[in-house]
Amino acid sequence: ETVEWDPEQAGKGEYDHFMLKEIHEQPTALAQAIEGRIDPENGRIALEDFPPGTFDGVENVQLIACGTSYHAALYGSVALNQAGIHATALLANEYSVTAPPVDDDTLVIAVTQSGETADTLSALRQATAAGADTLTVTNVVGSTAAREADDTLFIRAGPEIGVAATKTFSSQAVMLTLLAQRIAADARDETPADLQSLLPDLAQMPGQLEDLLATDDAAHIASQYQGSQSYFFIGRGLGYPVALEGALKFKEITYEHAEGFASGELKHGPLALVTPDTPVFAVFTGEEDEKTLKNAEEAQTRGAPVIAVCPEGHRAAEVADEHLEIPDADDELAGLLANVQLQLVSYHAAELLDRPIDKPRNLAKSVTVE
Ligand code: G6P
Repeated sequence: ETVEWDPEQAGKGEYDHFMLKEIHEQPTALAQAIEGRIDPENGRIALEDFPPGTFDGVENVQLIACGTSYHAALYGSVALNQAGIHATALLANEYSVTAPPVDDDTLVIAVTQSGETADTLSALRQATAAGADTLTVTNVVGSTAAREADDTLFIRAGPEIGVAATKTFSSQAVMLTLLAQRIAADARDETPADLQSLLPDLAQMPGQLEDLLATDDAAHIASQYQGSQSYFFIGRGLGYPVALEGALKFKEITYEHAEGFASGELKHGPLALVTPDTPVFAVFTGEEDEKTLKNAEEAQTRGAPVIAVCPEGHRAAEVADEHLEIPDADDELAGLLANVQLQLVSYHAAELLDRPIDKPRNLAKSVTVE
């Protein structure tokens, strides 16, 4: 007698899909990412391969990446600019024709989960040839990017099987947030004041994520708006890359039309598309939230249902038609908590449509051609 045993199914444990398993692995992934790397009591960041002074003289950072990693790179560029370091996120596949000049003070950071994306490797090689210092933020030890870049920061998220990246985005964004503070500290030779609130909040984030995941309200939102014509996502500051990532995840696994916009940009064109049939997910990160709320209300006035992703007691929750709650956190982390709510919305929407969630049509986990 034989026992039916499907190794893939076994790997998923209690979950129906790797994606849901990986969404639920985020508390552990984040705890692993920050373990030994932050010292909240003394307001210090200890990145093992980067002794103090590593980033002395860095004036300019270019972050290169594709897909979801590009959204993490954009998140990192906002964090760097907010910390006073000039930074730009660039699509790796555009880099060969649009790369800004690099000089001795430029650090180029390749953000790539797999470390094997052809577009990103090609941009990394171009930056190396131009004489830039390079660093890669990756999940895979021994990957091509890790071998080729001058330095590597591993995100330690563990294997990710679902084609749509989830836990690796969160870990990349957190590591880039830490790296931004470290680069700013070295370059300015002083400890950024933000660390006093950022590090304790970061230390409690795995626990907050566990609570958020335990009360999964997103299924109800997904079913309420099922069958809509398009799904829009808006955010500002660090909420902007989260809006882009929310829309990318949604289109990848549901095959429904979704777009992300900077909140303030809605009125400069996309508002023409807004109808009662286009729900708008609005991400509130504590960065000029009143403006984002006003932008969301402009959509609501045109009949669009607004779903606010915001902390408990936030004014947006009263104004919006629905809301998804996130725990209280530093502005630098709130967007990442909101992103997890949006991952759940996409997952449940795709589940209702019976899509092949772990392997969406036409997409690959790692694209090794340009
Ligand atoms: C593919 C995947 C995306 C991923 C992108 C970049 O397109 O489907 O989920 O974000 O590659 O991958 P990387 O390994 O470089 O992060």
